[in-house]
Amino acid sequence: MEDNCTSLVAEAREMLGQVSDRAGLENAKAVFFSANGKVRSLFKLLSAASSEEKPVLGQKINQCKIAIESLFAEKLRDIESREICQNLGEKVDPSIDVPTSGGVHPLSQIQETMVEIFHKLGFTVALGTEIETGWFCYDALNMPDSHPARDSHDSFFLSPGLQIENISQHSSEGYILRSHTSTVQVRTMLAEQPPLRILSPGRTFRRDTPDATHSPIFHQCEGLVVDKNISVADLKAVLDFFFKELFGNRCETRFRPSFFPFTEPSFEVDFRAPHLGKLGNSWIEVAGCGTVDPNVFISVGYDPEQWSGYAFGFGIERIAMLMYGIDDIRLFYQNDTRFLRQFA
Ligand code: PHE
Repeated sequence: MEDNCTSLVAEAREMLGQVSDRAGLENAKAVFFSANGKVRSLFKLLSAASSEEKPVLGQKINQCKIAIESLFAEKLRDIESREICQNLGEKVDPSIDVPTSGGVHPLSQIQETMVEIFHKLGFTVALGTEIETGWFCYDALNMPDSHPARDSHDSFFLSPGLQIENISQHSSEGYILRSHTSTVQVRTMLAEQPPLRILSPGRTFRRDTPDATHSPIFHQCEGLVVDKNISVADLKAVLDFFFKELFGNRCETRFRPSFFPFTEPSFEVDFRAPHLGKLGNSWIEVAGCGTVDPNVFISVGYDPEQWSGYAFGFGIERIAMLMYGIDDIRLFYQNDTRFLRQFA
Protein backbone atom coordinates (compact mmCIF):
# COMPACT_ATOMS: atom_id res chain seq x y z
CA MET A 1 0.00 0.00 0.00
CA GLU A 2 2.80 2.33 1.02
CA ASP A 3 4.38 1.65 -2.39
CA ASN A 4 1.12 2.31 -4.19
CA CYS A 5 0.92 5.74 -2.61
CA THR A 6 4.52 6.72 -3.29
CA SER A 7 4.34 5.64 -6.88
CA LEU A 8 1.06 7.48 -7.43
CA VAL A 9 2.64 10.75 -6.21
CA ALA A 10 5.61 10.11 -8.51
CA GLU A 11 3.23 9.41 -11.38
CA ALA A 12 1.39 12.69 -10.76
CA ARG A 13 4.66 14.61 -10.65
CA GLU A 14 5.73 13.09 -13.93
CA MET A 15 2.44 13.75 -15.67
CA LEU A 16 2.33 17.37 -14.48
CA GLY A 17 5.89 17.81 -15.74
CA GLN A 18 4.47 17.44 -19.27
CA VAL A 19 1.61 19.92 -18.67
CA SER A 20 2.04 23.50 -19.84
CA ASP A 21 -1.48 24.94 -20.10
CA ARG A 22 -4.92 24.86 -18.51
CA ALA A 23 -6.31 22.22 -20.92
CA GLY A 24 -3.44 19.89 -20.04
CA LEU A 25 -4.05 20.53 -16.36
CA GLU A 26 -7.75 19.63 -16.71
CA ASN A 27 -6.86 16.34 -18.44
CA ALA A 28 -4.42 15.46 -15.70
CA LYS A 29 -7.02 16.33 -13.10
CA ALA A 30 -9.48 13.91 -14.71
CA VAL A 31 -6.88 11.12 -14.60
CA PHE A 32 -6.33 11.58 -10.87
CA PHE A 33 -9.47 13.07 -9.39
CA SER A 34 -12.47 11.96 -11.47
CA ALA A 35 -14.92 9.33 -10.18
CA ASN A 36 -12.84 6.55 -11.74
CA GLY A 37 -9.59 8.38 -11.20
CA LYS A 38 -6.43 7.03 -9.64
CA VAL A 39 -6.88 8.72 -6.27
CA ARG A 40 -10.41 7.39 -5.92
CA SER A 41 -9.22 3.86 -6.74
CA LEU A 42 -6.76 4.04 -3.85
CA PHE A 43 -9.69 4.73 -1.55
CA LYS A 44 -11.46 1.71 -3.01
CA LEU A 45 -8.62 -0.46 -1.67
CA LEU A 46 -9.70 0.59 1.79
CA SER A 47 -12.89 -1.44 1.67
CA ALA A 48 -10.86 -4.65 1.23
CA ALA A 49 -8.67 -3.87 4.27
CA SER A 50 -9.27 -5.33 7.72
CA SER A 51 -10.72 -3.05 10.40
CA GLU A 52 -7.32 -2.89 12.19
CA GLU A 53 -5.56 -1.81 9.01
CA LYS A 54 -8.16 0.72 8.00
CA PRO A 55 -7.15 3.76 10.15
CA VAL A 56 -3.45 3.55 9.21
CA LEU A 57 -4.23 2.91 5.61
CA GLY A 58 -6.79 5.72 5.47
CA GLN A 59 -4.25 8.16 6.83
CA LYS A 60 -1.65 7.12 4.24
CA ILE A 61 -4.09 7.49 1.38
CA ASN A 62 -5.14 10.91 2.65
CA GLN A 63 -1.55 12.10 2.82
CA CYS A 64 -1.03 10.87 -0.71
CA LYS A 65 -4.13 12.75 -1.88
CA ILE A 66 -2.94 15.96 -0.20
CA ALA A 67 0.52 15.61 -1.78
CA ILE A 68 -1.01 15.22 -5.24
CA GLU A 69 -3.38 18.15 -4.69
CA SER A 70 -0.50 20.41 -3.78
CA LEU A 71 1.37 19.38 -6.94
CA PHE A 72 -1.71 20.42 -8.93
CA ALA A 73 -1.96 23.76 -7.05
CA GLU A 74 1.70 24.47 -7.74
CA LYS A 75 1.21 23.75 -11.42
CA LEU A 76 -1.79 26.09 -11.55
CA ARG A 77 0.27 28.92 -10.03
CA ASP A 78 2.94 28.27 -12.65
CA ILE A 79 0.42 28.46 -15.49
CA GLU A 80 -1.17 31.63 -14.07
CA SER A 81 2.09 33.51 -13.78
CA ARG A 82 3.04 32.47 -17.32
CA GLU A 83 -0.35 33.78 -18.55
CA ILE A 84 0.18 37.11 -16.78
CA CYS A 85 3.53 37.58 -18.49
CA GLN A 86 2.03 36.64 -21.87
CA ASN A 87 -0.87 39.09 -21.41
CA LEU A 88 1.56 41.85 -20.67
CA GLY A 89 3.15 41.14 -24.04
CA GLU A 90 6.46 40.08 -22.50
CA LYS A 91 6.87 43.62 -21.17
CA VAL A 92 7.59 42.27 -17.73
CA ASP A 93 10.80 40.58 -16.83
CA PRO A 94 10.23 39.21 -13.33
CA SER A 95 13.93 38.60 -12.94
CA ILE A 96 14.80 42.32 -13.04
CA ASP A 97 15.81 43.60 -9.63
CA VAL A 98 13.48 46.52 -8.92
CA PRO A 99 14.35 48.76 -5.96
CA THR A 100 11.67 48.00 -3.40
CA SER A 101 11.81 50.95 -1.01
CA GLY A 102 8.89 53.33 -1.55
CA GLY A 103 8.39 56.92 -0.49
CA VAL A 104 5.67 58.82 1.32
CA HIS A 105 3.14 60.37 -1.07
CA PRO A 106 3.47 64.19 -1.32
CA LEU A 107 -0.10 64.66 -0.02
CA SER A 108 0.67 62.52 3.02
CA GLN A 109 3.93 64.39 3.55
CA ILE A 110 2.25 67.78 3.57
CA GLN A 111 -0.55 66.45 5.74
CA GLU A 112 2.02 65.31 8.30
CA THR A 113 3.66 68.73 8.24
CA MET A 114 0.30 70.43 8.81
CA VAL A 115 -0.46 68.20 11.78
CA GLU A 116 2.99 68.94 13.24
CA ILE A 117 2.49 72.70 12.93
CA PHE A 118 -0.92 72.66 14.59
CA HIS A 119 0.38 70.26 17.21
CA LYS A 120 2.70 73.05 18.39
CA LEU A 121 -0.43 75.09 19.08
CA GLY A 122 -2.07 72.34 21.11
CA PHE A 123 -4.32 70.85 18.40
CA THR A 124 -4.90 67.10 18.36
CA VAL A 125 -6.09 65.07 15.38
CA ALA A 126 -9.75 64.03 15.21
CA LEU A 127 -11.14 61.73 12.52
CA GLY A 128 -14.67 61.28 11.20
CA THR A 129 -16.20 59.00 8.60
CA GLU A 130 -16.16 59.30 4.81
CA ILE A 131 -19.70 57.96 4.48
CA GLU A 132 -21.98 60.50 6.08
CA THR A 133 -25.56 61.58 6.39
CA GLY A 134 -27.10 64.83 5.28
CA TRP A 135 -27.57 65.68 8.92
CA PHE A 136 -23.86 65.65 9.80
CA CYS A 137 -22.80 67.14 6.49
CA TYR A 138 -25.41 69.90 6.29
CA ASP A 139 -28.33 70.15 8.76
CA ALA A 140 -26.21 70.23 11.91
CA LEU A 141 -24.00 72.81 10.22
CA ASN A 142 -26.88 75.24 9.86
CA MET A 143 -27.71 74.20 6.30
CA PRO A 144 -31.29 72.89 6.28
CA ASP A 145 -32.71 71.02 3.27
CA SER A 146 -33.72 74.19 1.48
CA HIS A 147 -30.33 75.87 1.84
CA PRO A 148 -28.79 76.79 -1.54
CA ALA A 149 -25.24 76.06 -0.33
CA ARG A 150 -26.24 72.38 -0.23
CA ASP A 151 -26.54 72.28 -4.00
CA SER A 152 -23.19 73.88 -4.59
CA HIS A 153 -21.52 70.96 -2.84
CA ASP A 154 -23.06 68.52 -5.32
CA SER A 155 -22.74 65.44 -3.13
CA PHE A 156 -22.44 61.81 -4.14
CA PHE A 157 -25.50 59.92 -2.87
CA LEU A 158 -25.32 56.24 -1.92
CA SER A 159 -28.10 53.81 -2.91
CA PRO A 160 -31.33 54.57 -1.07
CA GLY A 161 -32.31 51.98 1.51
CA LEU A 162 -28.72 51.13 2.44
CA GLN A 163 -28.19 50.59 6.19
CA ILE A 164 -24.75 51.05 7.68
CA GLU A 165 -23.85 49.96 11.16
CA ASN A 166 -22.79 52.74 13.54
CA ILE A 167 -23.98 55.56 11.30
CA SER A 168 -27.52 56.55 12.15
CA GLN A 169 -29.31 58.42 9.42
CA HIS A 170 -31.16 61.14 11.34
CA SER A 171 -33.23 61.79 8.22
CA SER A 172 -34.79 59.95 5.31
CA GLU A 173 -32.22 61.35 2.93
CA GLY A 174 -29.89 58.33 3.13
CA TYR A 175 -26.13 58.28 3.00
CA ILE A 176 -23.76 60.54 1.11
CA LEU A 177 -20.01 60.78 0.75
CA ARG A 178 -18.91 63.75 2.81
CA SER A 179 -18.39 66.86 0.72
CA HIS A 180 -16.26 68.60 3.34
CA THR A 181 -14.45 67.77 6.56
CA SER A 182 -16.71 70.15 8.54
CA THR A 183 -18.69 67.00 9.47
CA VAL A 184 -15.90 66.21 11.92
CA GLN A 185 -16.73 69.41 13.82
CA VAL A 186 -20.18 67.99 14.50
CA ARG A 187 -19.00 64.46 15.31
CA THR A 188 -16.37 65.72 17.74
CA MET A 189 -18.69 68.16 19.53
CA LEU A 190 -21.31 65.44 19.95
CA ALA A 191 -18.74 63.07 21.42
CA GLU A 192 -16.80 65.48 23.65
CA GLN A 193 -17.28 68.45 25.90
CA PRO A 194 -15.46 71.77 25.44
CA PRO A 195 -12.82 73.10 25.52
CA LEU A 196 -11.78 71.56 22.19
CA ARG A 197 -8.86 72.14 19.86
CA ILE A 198 -8.89 69.72 16.95
CA LEU A 199 -7.47 69.32 13.47
CA SER A 200 -9.02 66.90 11.03
CA PRO A 201 -7.34 66.04 7.74
CA GLY A 202 -9.16 63.64 5.44
CA ARG A 203 -10.72 62.68 2.12
CA THR A 204 -13.71 64.53 0.72
CA PHE A 205 -15.90 63.94 -2.32
CA ARG A 206 -17.81 66.17 -4.76
CA ARG A 207 -19.37 65.51 -8.14
CA ASP A 208 -16.82 67.56 -10.04
CA THR A 209 -15.52 66.66 -13.48
CA PRO A 210 -11.78 66.14 -13.20
CA ASP A 211 -9.59 68.84 -14.76
CA ALA A 212 -6.34 70.55 -13.82
CA THR A 213 -7.84 72.09 -10.69
CA HIS A 214 -10.74 69.76 -9.82
CA SER A 215 -10.94 66.18 -8.68
CA PRO A 216 -14.08 64.36 -7.43
CA ILE A 217 -11.94 62.97 -4.60
CA PHE A 218 -9.70 65.40 -2.79
CA HIS A 219 -8.48 66.17 0.71
CA GLN A 220 -9.34 68.87 3.19
CA CYS A 221 -8.03 69.82 6.59
CA GLU A 222 -10.48 71.16 9.14
CA GLY A 223 -9.75 72.98 12.35
CA LEU A 224 -12.07 73.69 15.28
CA VAL A 225 -11.48 75.46 18.57
CA VAL A 226 -14.18 75.80 21.21
CA ASP A 227 -13.43 77.68 24.41
CA LYS A 228 -14.44 80.74 26.40
CA ASN A 229 -13.98 84.23 24.91
CA ILE A 230 -12.65 83.15 21.52
CA SER A 231 -12.40 85.92 18.94
CA VAL A 232 -11.54 86.48 15.27
CA ALA A 233 -8.14 87.77 16.48
CA ASP A 234 -7.30 84.26 17.81
CA LEU A 235 -8.30 82.73 14.49
CA LYS A 236 -6.26 85.24 12.49
CA ALA A 237 -3.18 84.67 14.68
CA VAL A 238 -3.39 80.89 14.37
CA LEU A 239 -3.80 80.85 10.59
CA ASP A 240 -1.09 83.46 10.13
CA PHE A 241 1.28 81.34 12.23
CA PHE A 242 0.35 78.23 10.23
CA PHE A 243 1.03 79.78 6.82
CA LYS A 244 4.28 81.35 8.01
CA GLU A 245 5.47 77.99 9.36
CA LEU A 246 4.54 76.31 6.09
CA PHE A 247 5.72 78.86 3.54
CA GLY A 248 8.27 80.91 5.49
CA ASN A 249 8.20 84.09 7.53
CA ARG A 250 7.82 86.41 4.58
CA CYS A 251 4.41 85.03 3.72
CA GLU A 252 1.42 87.24 4.57
CA THR A 253 -2.25 86.43 5.11
CA ARG A 254 -5.37 88.55 4.82
CA PHE A 255 -9.02 87.92 5.67
CA ARG A 256 -11.77 88.81 3.21
CA PRO A 257 -15.43 88.84 4.32
CA SER A 258 -17.31 85.83 2.99
CA PHE A 259 -20.18 83.52 3.86
CA PHE A 260 -20.41 80.00 5.25
CA PRO A 261 -23.62 78.82 6.94
CA PHE A 262 -21.71 77.38 9.91
CA THR A 263 -19.55 80.42 10.75
CA GLU A 264 -20.57 83.99 11.53
CA PRO A 265 -18.76 86.15 10.64
CA SER A 266 -17.06 84.20 7.85
CA PHE A 267 -13.91 84.91 5.87
CA GLU A 268 -11.86 83.69 2.94
CA VAL A 269 -8.18 83.58 3.74
CA ASP A 270 -5.81 84.84 1.06
CA PHE A 271 -2.11 84.42 1.23
CA ARG A 272 0.83 86.02 -0.56
CA ALA A 273 4.39 84.75 -0.70
CA PRO A 274 6.47 87.00 -2.96
CA HIS A 275 9.62 85.06 -2.10
CA LEU A 276 8.20 81.96 -3.79
CA GLY A 277 9.08 83.11 -7.31
CA LYS A 278 6.34 81.38 -9.25
CA LEU A 279 3.51 82.92 -7.22
CA GLY A 280 4.45 86.55 -7.87
CA ASN A 281 2.96 89.22 -5.68
CA SER A 282 -0.69 88.30 -6.04
CA TRP A 283 -3.07 87.24 -3.29
CA ILE A 284 -4.23 83.62 -3.54
CA GLU A 285 -7.33 82.25 -1.86
CA VAL A 286 -6.41 79.28 0.33
CA ALA A 287 -8.95 78.70 3.10
CA GLY A 288 -12.39 79.40 4.50
CA CYS A 289 -12.94 80.23 8.16
CA GLY A 290 -14.94 82.13 10.75
CA THR A 291 -16.25 82.08 14.29
CA VAL A 292 -18.68 79.24 14.99
CA ASP A 293 -22.32 80.11 14.30
CA PRO A 294 -24.44 79.78 17.49
CA ASN A 295 -26.87 77.54 15.58
CA VAL A 296 -24.13 74.92 15.21
CA PHE A 297 -23.58 74.93 18.97
CA ILE A 298 -27.32 74.47 19.44
CA SER A 299 -27.35 71.46 17.04
CA VAL A 300 -24.77 69.65 19.18
CA GLY A 301 -26.20 70.67 22.54
CA TYR A 302 -23.57 73.26 23.53
CA ASP A 303 -24.74 76.49 25.16
CA PRO A 304 -23.87 79.35 22.77
CA GLU A 305 -24.05 81.83 25.66
CA GLN A 306 -21.28 79.98 27.42
CA TRP A 307 -19.05 78.81 24.58
CA SER A 308 -17.44 80.49 21.61
CA GLY A 309 -15.19 79.10 18.91
CA TYR A 310 -13.69 79.30 15.47
CA ALA A 311 -13.36 76.90 12.57
CA PHE A 312 -11.34 76.80 9.39
CA GLY A 313 -10.97 74.49 6.42
CA PHE A 314 -8.65 74.28 3.45
CA GLY A 315 -7.88 71.97 0.56
CA ILE A 316 -4.69 69.98 1.06
CA GLU A 317 -4.04 69.51 -2.67
CA ARG A 318 -4.32 73.25 -3.25
CA ILE A 319 -1.69 74.01 -0.64
CA ALA A 320 0.58 71.22 -1.91
CA MET A 321 0.23 72.57 -5.46
CA LEU A 322 1.25 76.06 -4.32
CA MET A 323 4.09 74.72 -2.25
CA TYR A 324 5.62 72.54 -4.95
CA GLY A 325 4.58 74.51 -8.03
CA ILE A 326 2.34 71.69 -9.34
CA ASP A 327 -0.13 72.88 -11.96
CA ASP A 328 -2.35 69.81 -12.42
CA ILE A 329 -4.16 68.20 -9.47
CA ARG A 330 -4.54 64.90 -11.37
CA LEU A 331 -0.81 64.25 -11.02
CA PHE A 332 -1.41 63.39 -7.36
CA TYR A 333 -3.56 60.39 -8.21
CA GLN A 334 -2.00 58.94 -11.34
CA ASN A 335 0.73 57.03 -9.53
CA ASP A 336 3.30 57.99 -12.13
CA THR A 337 6.57 57.17 -10.44
CA ARG A 338 8.38 59.90 -12.42
CA PHE A 339 6.20 62.42 -10.55
CA LEU A 340 6.20 60.68 -7.19
CA ARG A 341 9.93 60.00 -7.12
CA GLN A 342 10.57 63.75 -6.90
CA PHE A 343 9.09 63.74 -3.40
CA ALA A 344 10.63 60.51 -2.10
N1 PHE B 1 -16.25 73.51 4.79
C1 PHE B 1 -15.90 74.68 4.02
C2 PHE B 1 -15.72 74.25 2.55
O1 PHE B 1 -15.60 73.08 2.27
C3 PHE B 1 -14.64 75.34 4.51
C4 PHE B 1 -14.80 75.93 5.89
C5 PHE B 1 -14.50 75.18 7.02
C6 PHE B 1 -15.27 77.23 6.06
C7 PHE B 1 -14.65 75.73 8.28
C8 PHE B 1 -15.42 77.78 7.30
C9 PHE B 1 -15.12 77.03 8.41
O2 PHE B 1 -15.71 75.06 1.66
